[in-house]
Amino acid sequence: MGTVIQKKSLMVRPLRRDDRPSIERILRHTRVFLEMEVQCALELIDVYLDNAEQKDYILACAVDETDQPRGYVCYGPTPLTAGTYDLYWIAVDPAWHGRGAGSLLMEYVERQISDTTSSAPRARLLIIETSSLPRYEAARRLYSRHHYREVARIPNFYADGDDRVIYAKRFHPQNKPDQKSA
Ligand SMILES: CC(C)(COP(=O)(O)OP(=O)(O)OC[C@H]1O[C@@H](n2cnc3c(N)ncnc32)[C@H](O)[C@@H]1OP(=O)(O)O)[C@@H](O)C(=O)NCCC(=O)NCCS
Repeated sequence: MGTVIQKKSLMVRPLRRDDRPSIERILRHTRVFLEMEVQCALELIDVYLDNAEQKDYILACAVDETDQPRGYVCYGPTPLTAGTYDLYWIAVDPAWHGRGAGSLLMEYVERQISDTTSSAPRARLLIIETSSLPRYEAARRLYSRHHYREVARIPNFYADGDDRVIYAKRFHPQNKPDQKSA
């Protein structure tokens, strides 16, 4: 399987070092993330860029026709599990919201973790954690639209009134995602 998927004027490819400033801008422009969250996202970008051998974090970006990053995703195999993956971050440039970049990134992740020719573990489960706050509404809609189910919620986890919401999607043994239940 290739490492690039395309849709209209956008395509997804592995993240490169020269994408970092654009991704930092996108993280800030979404106005969703706290500064400490932006720093955490940047740390994971640096782990990926600076350690060619590491396999915990995989990053890819959605680029426009000029190869300018318009969104990115960070995911990886969950340590100490057999075939469970976490989607750690996803963000799209606000000027590009509602044009399918988020969906394209989700489809890319699912395709990559289902790749039977890869040496990485085959996906059995993909987990996404997010917040219950209103500003994460677009993210929760994206996950639901892609058939992720809320499987757990920890009230007041991030702060009082800010729950941790855990979404999951099962993949069948032949690695087709289950569209009905987590
Ligand atoms: C969540 C997020 C990544 C979604 O990105 P996106 O590129 O806007 O996602 P999509 O374009 O695929 O889908 C968004 C909406 O546009 C619609 N859409 C997609 N392609 C479209 C098109 N070509 N024409 C019209 N509408 C379209 C979708 O149906 C969807 O509608 P909905 O919100 O009513 O369900 C983005 O809102 C974001 O960056 N949010 C801030 C960061 C964040 O919260 N990250 C998650 C942290 S856990």
